[in-house]
Amino acid sequence: MATLKFKDPSPYKQELPKAPVADFLYSSFLKDIALQQAERGTAVQMALFGVGRAGSIHLSALAHNPRVKLLYIVDDVQEKWDAIRQYWKLDDTVFLCSNDADKVFLDPRVRAVVVATPTNTHEWIVTTALNHGKDVFCEKPVAESISSAEHCYKQAKKAGKLLFCAFQRRFDPAFNNIKERVRSGEVGHVHTIKTCSRDAQLPSLEYLRSSSGIFHDTAVHDIDLICWILGEYPTCVATQASTLTPEIAEIGDYDTVVITLQFPSGTLGIIDISRLSSHGYDQRIEVFGPRGMLTSSNERPMHGIESHIGFQGGNTMPIYYSFPSRYKMAYLNEMEHFLDILQDKAKPTIMGHETLAVSKIASACEESARTRQFVQLQWEPEYIPPN
Ligand SMILES: NC(=O)c1ccc[n+]([C@@H]2O[C@H](COP(=O)([O-])OP(=O)(O)OC[C@H]3O[C@@H](n4cnc5c(N)ncnc54)[C@H](O)[C@@H]3O)[C@@H](O)[C@H]2O)c1
Repeated sequence: MATLKFKDPSPYKQELPKAPVADFLYSSFLKDIALQQAERGTAVQMALFGVGRAGSIHLSALAHNPRVKLLYIVDDVQEKWDAIRQYWKLDDTVFLCSNDADKVFLDPRVRAVVVATPTNTHEWIVTTALNHGKDVFCEKPVAESISSAEHCYKQAKKAGKLLFCAFQRRFDPAFNNIKERVRSGEVGHVHTIKTCSRDAQLPSLEYLRSSSGIFHDTAVHDIDLICWILGEYPTCVATQASTLTPEIAEIGDYDTVVITLQFPSGTLGIIDISRLSSHGYDQRIEVFGPRGMLTSSNERPMHGIESHIGFQGGNTMPIYYSFPSRYKMAYLNEMEHFLDILQDKAKPTIMGHETLAVSKIASACEESARTRQFVQLQWEPEYIPPN
């Protein structure tokens, strides 16, 4: 009877606790159950360029999205068209080869274009779409070089259209939580911030050849994440890079990279990247400051299961295998954000100057790897993010 004195009145007589904001899937369920039709607006008419790995991820976010009408899919792999149409039930979507892409650009119904083609094709598709008055969602990197990316953003400004670069990690619930907590001062002034990004699967050599290299293809995600969390850009970077896979050496790229970044406030950043991780898609972050540390460890598709068999010790389930599963929510959230912008429900959270800054930092890191020197970076006032 020692605890009887703690007995509360019936839960039916009390106000029940609300779902925590951290349960983002429950928040989404609440929207569905409230049938918030007004929030969905009129369907945005769109076209998708490229249905490879990234394109398939975006197709899954577009195909049955009540906020979208997918008018066109452009991809030269014609033998896949019927299967894609049947699988996603895209009876009204027109499939085109890239040399017929004019039909998309000249169709006034097409409001926006999603670009998920190889990086070396982005600049032409992006600028042509913008020049024809379409808003553009483009996979990272927007273009192969800073000058090409600048050209794309100049065209966007000239056309008065949106060019949105898809850095999906900003839309990952865990990384959002870390950012908000860092910005609310939980760890104080950040002393060090570390990311680790290791791909479980080696990309195909064909992909690597058109990827614009590990710094612009992969490091840009980590650079963007760190700068977005800190709200500042580095003034000095130093990189060590190796190529441990002979086929990647043959195409002149690296597969293992460590980057250090020094920020104006004194914070140090460390990025650890590898093209191949045998234990799964290794994606972690740690933010350390005088008041403590925040970490986001690897997530698992099934996280509640643990086994204790014989004397093997405790075993959990494997971590996610690759980006389509690890960042599934992030990809969905970024597409919803793009639609929110088009429907005037949100302002873009990834600005052109941020994308260009990331590209400039990636180039500096690459230069440091090749020259084995520290590389200094200077920033014009328009690149300094507000606090
Ligand atoms: N954000 C991420 O996590 C992420 C992940 C993977 C790839 N990406 C980016 O997505 C882009 C595509 O990469 P991927 O891995 O999907 O490549 P992929 O090779 O798997 O797919 C590319 C697709 O584009 C098609 N294509 C090629 N040229 C075309 C053209 N001119 N017009 C229309 N379609 C064309 C190809 O037939 C293919 O189906 C790259 O820029 C890459 O950096 C981003």
